[in-house]
Amino acid sequence: MTQTHYRTHTCGQLREAHLDKEVILCGWLHRTREHGNVTFLDIRDRYGITQVVADESLKKELNLKKESVIQITGTVKKRPEANKNMPTGAIELHATKITLLNPSETLPLDLEGHSDMTEETRLKYRYLDLRRHKMQENLITRHKAMISARNFFDKEGFVEIETPMLAKSTPEGARDFLVPSRLHKGKMYALPQSPQIFKQLLMLSGFDRYIQFARCFRDEDLRADRQTDFTQIDLEMSFVQEQDIYTIMEKFVKQLWKDIFNQELPTPFPRLTYEEAMNTYGKDSPDRRFELHLHNLTTILKKSDFTIFKDAEYISCIILDKEQSRKEIDKATEQVKIHGAKGLAWVKITDTFEGGISKFLSSEIQQQLRKELKLNKGKTIFFVADQKKIVLPALGNLRLYFGKKYEFIKEEWNFTWITDFPLLDWNQEEERYVSMHHPFTAPKEEDISLLETTPEKAKSNAYDLVLNGVEIAGGSIRIHKSDLQKKMFHALNIPEKEAEEKFGFLINAFKYGAPPHGGIAFGFDRLIALITKNESIREVIAFPKTKSAEDLMMESPSDVSPQQLKELGLKKD
Ligand code: AMO
Ligand code: AMP
Repeated sequence: MTQTHYRTHTCGQLREAHLDKEVILCGWLHRTREHGNVTFLDIRDRYGITQVVADESLKKELNLKKESVIQITGTVKKRPEANKNMPTGAIELHATKITLLNPSETLPLDLEGHSDMTEETRLKYRYLDLRRHKMQENLITRHKAMISARNFFDKEGFVEIETPMLAKSTPEGARDFLVPSRLHKGKMYALPQSPQIFKQLLMLSGFDRYIQFARCFRDEDLRADRQTDFTQIDLEMSFVQEQDIYTIMEKFVKQLWKDIFNQELPTPFPRLTYEEAMNTYGKDSPDRRFELHLHNLTTILKKSDFTIFKDAEYISCIILDKEQSRKEIDKATEQVKIHGAKGLAWVKITDTFEGGISKFLSSEIQQQLRKELKLNKGKTIFFVADQKKIVLPALGNLRLYFGKKYEFIKEEWNFTWITDFPLLDWNQEEERYVSMHHPFTAPKEEDISLLETTPEKAKSNAYDLVLNGVEIAGGSIRIHKSDLQKKMFHALNIPEKEAEEKFGFLINAFKYGAPPHGGIAFGFDRLIALITKNESIREVIAFPKTKSAEDLMMESPSDVSPQQLKELGLKKD
């Protein structure tokens, strides 16, 4: 690092090798302790903390408030007793001069985390919150991951290309953020939900391998793993099949883990089809760090005397290796109800089937269940019966609830590819099919004919990468022929005129020699949150928004002047 005029070293740098050297440090006053005639001060910057000893001669300079910015000149001395917990713990700086560069008022938050801070306070004073060591580590890890990714993709021949922010709607399934145009009153730009269309066009231009750390904007309800503006490592490649994407992405993740953790990840990552994931884990982003599978019992239980089972489209269960009290069963029932299930049926396995719905299960059914589920004493079975689209997420949620409650979840990095997604999903409100991924995703070759007959049965060449139950990346092989793209818009019930207006340029572009291509995008914030073991992506974003999409520090969104609204044609006079 090139030295600057203010300091000779950083606060994390000095070691025994520097003994008796005259140095200058700059940083924040972290802490002071009086000790007879001497004062100990800790000076801090992002590199670390150094202990400073100041004697009486400097007393008048010592009337400093915590977090003031100071400059200290002094000599490096060996500490009488080294502090093994500090990298600089072998030495201390004997101050000869202390200069106050800028005083600080008392901070509105406690950097050392001794008192509870609300997230609101942290976000309002984010610039101070970011002084905390943990936050600095999070952002520095993020930076390291960025460098690792850029190096990797550069070596693999990817070209980093920026695409516009002021663009046109890209259909990723969320609401667009719109930006009114001053020069074209009444018209709007849309902020990109992803660079999807641009990257496909770049393949058409012949760039072959594209990458971008892309900012994406989606107006959707926020959660711990969602922000209105977030970052993707966005990629696209020409002349590839699904397997090629898996291979290169596994190589990338392997390199990233090597760079960040110096750890060898085993590859290839296991794969599960969407259907297997849903039926076995109740989620398309399964947490596979623990077992506790779902078991489809529709065939067996539809024959039971329990009306709820007889009438249901789908019945599945999970088997907990524990007995459950009434209170625990009630809590478990809440877990399925929040996902729309009408109830949670259960039986206890002792020598026989006991309690709950056992009286509705004939001995023949009990025998079949014993055989199918390999039951033994001490277990409790939980059943949900309903439409399949309710049963699976309800039990999927119950599975995670038990996983956390009973600490089944192992400490490990568990990667899984989810493959063979359905191409379309029926949207009841709009009464039409919508893309499960986006409308440029290619159907499986053998399923193209289904588009005109039973589109809901068509599978796509889309895939997700899941890490510890979080979807960290998603992508697909694309449609690259204009006639198939038109067919796709037709299946989505997008009228030709509307398709022409919205994506005419893309359909047109495909007429000029579009190579077969495919890609993927990593949710970079999610990836870093997992790497740094944070629950929320807000911990790895310098200036995030709250759950209600506000920036509490800048107080945005905010009012603008009538003049601005007028210029944009949003207000008459
Ligand atoms: P997709 O919509 O699956 O695909 O997004 C890719 C990844 O981005 C992350 N992600 C988010 N992270 C934070 N906040 C959000 N609001 C948010 N939404 C998504 C997820 C997700 O896996 N254009 C396609 C990619 C492609 O087909 O190549 C796309 O955007 O980790
Ligand atoms: P009920 O006859 O409504 O009292 O329900 C008997 C048991 O079946 C209770 O434990 C309910 O929680 C459970 N139950 C109700 N509806 C369902 C359902 N759709 N799937 C599974 N269990 C249910």
